[in-house]
Amino acid sequence: MKRQYKCDILFDSLAAPILESGKLEPMRQYIQHGTCTCYDHVLAVAKTALAMSMRLPFKFKKDQLVRGALLHDYFLYDWHTVKLDKLHGFAHPKIALENARKEFDLTPIEENIIVRHMFPLTPVPPKYRESLLVSFADKHCANKEFFVELGHKLAKKRAISAVAHAFSLLIALLPWT
Ligand SMILES: [Fe+2]
Ligand SMILES: [Fe+2]
Repeated sequence: MKRQYKCDILFDSLAAPILESGKLEPMRQYIQHGTCTCYDHVLAVAKTALAMSMRLPFKFKKDQLVRGALLHDYFLYDWHTVKLDKLHGFAHPKIALENARKEFDLTPIEENIIVRHMFPLTPVPPKYRESLLVSFADKHCANKEFFVELGHKLAKKRAISAVAHAFSLLIALLPWT
C-alpha cells in the first residue's frame, strides 16, 4: 500500500470520532489565515503531523497526535475582530484548551499539544514529541496558507496591471491621441 494512501486511511479512522461529533463545525465560520478557515487549517495540521510522524524514526501516539492537532485552535471566535486582554497569538492556546476540555475527554498529551502549540511565541516548550510535531506542522501549514494567499493577491495585482496596460494601449490607439 502506498504511504500516502495508508496515511489517508489512518487519518480518516483516527479523526472520524471528533469530526463526526460535529463539535468542530463552528470552526468553518472563522478564517484562520488568508482564505483558509479554522476548520480547514486544523485538518491540514492534523494530516501534516500524521504524515510527518510516519516518516520519522520515532514512535508517536498517532491517535492522540491527530486528536490534539484537530483541537489545537479550538478557540471559536474571529481573531481578526475580537478584543482580548492579551494578543490572540498569546491567548488562544489556553482558550482552545478550556473549550476543548468542555467538549472532550483529553489526555495529558492532547492537552499539551493544544496549550504549547504556539512555542516559541509562548515560551514554555512542548513536553511530548507529539506536541513538538504539531507545533512544527502548525507553522508549516500557517506559512503555506499565508503564501498561497499572498500568491492570490499578487496574481490579482498582475491581472489589474494587465487590464490597466490594455486600457492605456486602447487609449493610445484611439484617433484623438
Ligand atoms: Fe494556534
Ligand atoms: Fe494553528
